Amino acid sequence: MITVPYLTALTTYFSYGLLFAFGQFRDFFRKIFDWWHASNLQGYAPICLGLEDFYIRRLYLRIQDCFGRPIASAPDAWFDVVERLSNDNNKTLKRTTKISRCLNLGSYNYLGFAAADEYCTPRVIDSLKKFSPSTCSARVDGGTTTLHEQLEECVADFVGKPAAIVFGMGYVTNSAILPVIMGKGGLIISDSLNHNSIVNGARGSGATIRVFQHNMPSHLEKVLREQIAEGQPRTHRPWKKIIVVVEGIYSMEGELCKLPEIVAICKKYKAYIYLDEAHSIGAVGKTGRGVCELLGVDTADVDVMMGTFTKSFGSCGGYIAGSKELIKFLKYTCPAHLYATSISPPAAEQIISAIKVILGEDGSSRGAQKLARIRENSNFFRSELQKMGFEVLGDNDSPVMPIMLYNPAKIPAFSRECLNQNVAVVTVAFPATPLLLARARICISASHTKEDLLKALEVISRVGDMVGIKYFPAEPMKQQQQEEGRIKVE
Ligand SMILES: Cc1ncc(COP(=O)(O)O)c(C=O)c1O
Ligand SMILES: *[C@@H]1O[C@H](CO)[C@@H](O)[C@H](O)[C@H]1NC(C)=O
Repeated sequence: MITVPYLTALTTYFSYGLLFAFGQFRDFFRKIFDWWHASNLQGYAPICLGLEDFYIRRLYLRIQDCFGRPIASAPDAWFDVVERLSNDNNKTLKRTTKISRCLNLGSYNYLGFAAADEYCTPRVIDSLKKFSPSTCSARVDGGTTTLHEQLEECVADFVGKPAAIVFGMGYVTNSAILPVIMGKGGLIISDSLNHNSIVNGARGSGATIRVFQHNMPSHLEKVLREQIAEGQPRTHRPWKKIIVVVEGIYSMEGELCKLPEIVAICKKYKAYIYLDEAHSIGAVGKTGRGVCELLGVDTADVDVMMGTFTKSFGSCGGYIAGSKELIKFLKYTCPAHLYATSISPPAAEQIISAIKVILGEDGSSRGAQKLARIRENSNFFRSELQKMGFEVLGDNDSPVMPIMLYNPAKIPAFSRECLNQNVAVVTVAFPATPLLLARARICISASHTKEDLLKALEVISRVGDMVGIKYFPAEPMKQQQQEEGRIKVE
């Protein structure tokens, strides 16, 4: 739950209203014009959906230079952003040969493994020579190399579960696994801010879906009680099984899951628990083992542990870890295992090597240093932003920190000004967030040095003054006063 200052809410709605009205006005004239020049597609339904198409043309295209900026190097602490030119008000953008060297505050490179690493990179290159970029077949055919088996053992051991299965893509891990374990007669209870891959997996499963208020254990319990009492729709038979799906760190909020409370509730009502650790595995916990380690939850209490290799490990793919029974079942039945090409061998080697570094099995203390660094960097950066008066969401220890922008005009203003001063940030708006809650999302990395962070803070502070987004006075007294002039948005 976020509270928005009244005036900000008002001007934000007004801005969107204006954009919408002008867009509709222009579309109206375009329709008349099109009708006049009757096209040869008459009789066909439009292939692009109406409102989405409208949103892209009239809102997104105006600021599309802030999104999808191509880069020309590894996503390290600093990277090369390619400059683009436009002759039509940014409707189309052309790449130039010019690049600008920018501080990277956008990639999920939590431990800094996304750039060349003295331990990982030579091994990845060797595996590329030995195994090639692709296995060109599914796991059950010719697509299981020794690396794949090694990876699964390594991941199971790392996350603290008896067995694991890996997939070539994190998104698919959620969207393909949920339909395998859940189906008609089952109940999925999902956090309201779960990632799109979970939402689509849940929808594709055919199970009944209920949503509980974001990270609110008391509401989860209410939904569970109601649903258990009600049973299946119409027949009121008991549910075949119930699973609660949550994330370790919410990637748009920077918040840690209230896992201990949620686990206790799931145990009480005998519901399974599915935990997506995309942003938390490797990034938090004393030895990088994720939110269970950080919050003191026994991994035996989490039935399905999911995660991705695309953040902390600097690779690609996803995993499910669980009981031997569960993983065996998935290997026999999951279409993403049976019909999709297996994860690229060099990508698998990257993950194995990164885990070895994290665990100190490379014979150095670099892993421990990285873990200490990501934590220090994140907590330092968050507290400095708050001191400056920005409204920063999320919890301590989380390397993800959204800075609230609210007003649509502030999205391009903030993004472009930061880029002008060689700081690359990611901005997020509707439909990825609610309409009112546009934000810039900072991701801190262990590879950022103190100087990097100081530079970033200086630029963000200056741009923040310019754009007018220091919504929160630093003194607690004034904060309290301000709480009163705010409306609640979920
Ligand atoms: C919570 C969560 N789950 C799953 C995914 C999908 O992972 P991938 O990007 O590896 O496909 C993401 C991606 O950002 C995520 O944030
Ligand atoms: C197009 O993008 C550039 C570079 O990001 C920006 O400076 C400019 O204001 C944009 N133009 C319009 C019309 O939005």
